[in-house]
Amino acid sequence: MRDRRVVITGVGRGLGRRLAEALVEAGDEVWGTSRNGDAPEGLRGRVTMELRSEVSIAAGSAEIASQTDGIDLLINCAGTDARSFGAPPGERGPFDLDAETFNAVMEVNATGPMLVTKYMLALLRAGRDAMVINVSSQLGSMALAQTMGADTVYNVSKAALNMLSLKTAAAVRDDGIGVVMIHPGWVRTDMGGPSAALTIDESAHAIVDTIGSLSIEDSGRFIRWDGTDHPW
Ligand SMILES: NC(=O)c1ccc[n+]([C@@H]2O[C@H](COP(=O)([O-])OP(=O)(O)OC[C@H]3O[C@@H](n4cnc5c(N)ncnc54)[C@H](OP(=O)(O)O)[C@@H]3O)[C@@H](O)[C@H]2O)c1
Repeated sequence: MRDRRVVITGVGRGLGRRLAEALVEAGDEVWGTSRNGDAPEGLRGRVTMELRSEVSIAAGSAEIASQTDGIDLLINCAGTDARSFGAPPGERGPFDLDAETFNAVMEVNATGPMLVTKYMLALLRAGRDAMVINVSSQLGSMALAQTMGADTVYNVSKAALNMLSLKTAAAVRDDGIGVVMIHPGWVRTDMGGPSAALTIDESAHAIVDTIGSLSIEDSGRFIRWDGTDHPW
């Protein structure tokens, strides 16, 4: 049995939901965020958090802070792409998107995780061997961007999340807090679609095992679900 105090964003569906279930099964105390009240069974708590709203992030974080003295693991999992804001699947290149759509995806995938970590920082500082996991993507890799990814702002936002993660890792290293970026694989969720390579169970369980083996020495790494290094 483990007894980490964990916060996961986006537990209503997809990978965030399965990660929350797996960590509850493993004996962790898990708080989840969602926008609409959806959450799996067994959570220690659920709060409402809209990642495009700093007010909402601050309020949700304060609610969690009223229920625990510290957090040992924060998983910034919630994420989106331009389809969520009306972009047609085949029209997501660098000249297809309007500013509103571009900025909305950046808010959810980069600004949001930055603010969640910021508002959870006091709790993380009070955590045991605290770790922040930012769920990134292979599509944030400079090495792969020339050949992969139809959704330009998704690529850009995950590259931004990776840079943000490195800056965060440097800023909190002296507090003993680690920050690691994980590409979860191509996963059969609403985002990944039915043709994706991994089931949601395969990805979630591998990520839980990988997270269990991480320490502060791993801070600043960009890794795959199985713990192997991902190219930048
Ligand atoms: N699936 C893949 O193949 C794949 C590959 C690489 C990386 N990823 C990353 O893995 C993470 C999880 O993705 P997924 O596949 O589970 O996607 P998903 O099934 O589409 O789920 C997305 C999650 O993010 C939440 N979310 C979206 N917009 C939000 C907002 N504005 N504020 C708060 N929450 C919001 C959703 O909540 P609602 O239910 O309220 O919309 C939902 O919980 C994401 O960061 C994604 O970029 C996925």
